[in-house]
This record gives sequence, C-alpha cells and structure tokens, in this order.
Amino acid sequence: MVDIWQNAMDHAVTIARRAGEVVREALHEDRKVMTKSSSVDLVTQTDQKVEQLIIQSVKEKFPTHRFIGEESVAAGEVCELTDSPTWIIDPIDGTTNFVHTFPFVAVSIGFSVNKQSEFGVVYSCLEDKMFTARRGRGAFCNDQPLSVSDQEDIKQSVIATEFGSSRDPEAVNNIFTSLRNIVSLPIHGVRGAGSAAINLCLVASGCVEAYYEIGIHVWDIAAGSLIVTEAGGILLDVEVDLMSRRILAANNTTIADRLIREIQSFSPPRDDAPLLPQ
Ligand code: IPD
Ligand code: CA
Repeated sequence: MVDIWQNAMDHAVTIARRAGEVVREALHEDRKVMTKSSSVDLVTQTDQKVEQLIIQSVKEKFPTHRFIGEESVAAGEVCELTDSPTWIIDPIDGTTNFVHTFPFVAVSIGFSVNKQSEFGVVYSCLEDKMFTARRGRGAFCNDQPLSVSDQEDIKQSVIATEFGSSRDPEAVNNIFTSLRNIVSLPIHGVRGAGSAAINLCLVASGCVEAYYEIGIHVWDIAAGSLIVTEAGGILLDVEVDLMSRRILAANNTTIADRLIREIQSFSPPRDDAPLLPQ
C-alpha cells in the first residue's frame, strides 16, 4: 500500500533531529527568558528560532501545507485546524526545563489531515530519543516498537501530571484537589517530566500508566497523543477534540475510568476560541 504521507514523516524526523541540535547547542549559551500568558509561561529566542527553522524547511518541501506553531500563535496567528494537511509544532516542549537545564526537552511535530492525526514525531533531544508514530502502523522509540503497560490496578500504578503554566487560583485549587484524590487512592507514585510530549511518550513506553492535564495546548499533545494510541493506549477528550485543552491518556480504559472519577475538571478557553477584540 502506498503511504502518501511517508515523505512528510521522514522530513519531520530529519527536521526534528536538526532542531534538537540547535536546542542542545543553545544550552551552552545564555538564555534570555521572556514571558507570555503568565509569569510562569516562559519563552526564549531559541523557541522562536527553532519554530522558524522547522516552518521554513517544511514550506520549501510542502508549499501548500498549513501550520499551527506555538510561537506563531503567540505572535498573533490564528489557531485553526482545517481539513488541509497541517503541521502542528511545539519547537521546545518543556521550555521551563530548557531554561533550568532540567534534562527533559522535546521537539514535537504532529501532522493532521481532515482533522485526523496522520503521524507524530517527538524528539527528546537531551536523551537522544526519537519517538515516532504513523496512524495504523505502530509507535517506536529509536526504531524499537513501543507498547503501553498492561497494569489494570490503579493502586499499582504511577500517574504523570503537571501543574501547567496558569496560576489562576481556581485552576490551582482544582489541580490540587485532583492530585490529593489520586495520591490518596493510594497509587504507587506521581511523576511529571515537565513536558507534555514526553509524558505522553512515557505512557506509550509503559513507564507510567497514565498522564492527565487540564490547560495544555494543541501543540503540546498533537504528536504524543498519536504515539500513545499507536502503542495501544487510549485517550479521553483529545481523541475527538485536539483543541479542548484537556487530556487523559492511559494504558487502558480500566485505569482511565478509575482516574477520571478523581479528576476535578475545569474548562480553560479552547485553543480555537475567537480572539477577543483589543
Ligand atoms: C508546557 C509543558 C508542560 C505543561 C504545560 C505546557 P511548553 O509546554 O508541556 O509540561 O505542563 O501545560 O504548556 O510551554 O514547555 O511548550
Ligand atoms: Ca513550547
């Protein structure tokens, strides 16, 4: 069977590796830190430079394709997923880690056609791990097949989550309520890599049973969510709606259903919500 998107996926792997080199080199230089939506939502010139590098290189090969890029949206571009082939880019997922040299930093490239994920590439550039998935063809890390954990008992599980980049008191309250409920089940432990994309790859690798977060963005999860499902896992919310800003990715429905009962949900504005007039 001819795979019409294989060329694009090969290009995504090549450009993610090149972007990862730029990120690694930048760790030896001064990193000027700026902020976006809040004082803990960080961005550096390297985020912007890497996003431009990826977009320019894709445009040369695939001039008709569209883009949703974290830093382009931050600069005012519309965040809209259409049926056209669309590259969904997080140039540095784990910017806070990058700023603090905490060693989990990823380049994340998702690709969607007719609003369906076709492939996902997450390059964990300090670990030198290239995670890939192509719809219907499995998930891999450095070309080795991945599969989720077969654990069905929540009390024998490790769950990943994050505090995110909002400090809105209501959101913080909900996050701690969920965390207290889940820790008290009790579970074996809670982890967070500081990168949504890497957390999803940890689910796909069977290192944690589930990852959940409310407040993430489409670029954080576009690639990693396909890596989870292609490794045999399941998704709630995001499977039908990448813009929902909520994700629960799990190894199976038993763990997902048990976890969802403990999560205090809230609704940040959708990624594709119309911009308010200035
Ligand atoms: C963030 C990371 C973090 C998650 C935040 C994301 P960024 O992405 O994935 O783990 O908790 O919600 O915004 O800003 O480093 O690309
Ligand atoms: Ca980012």
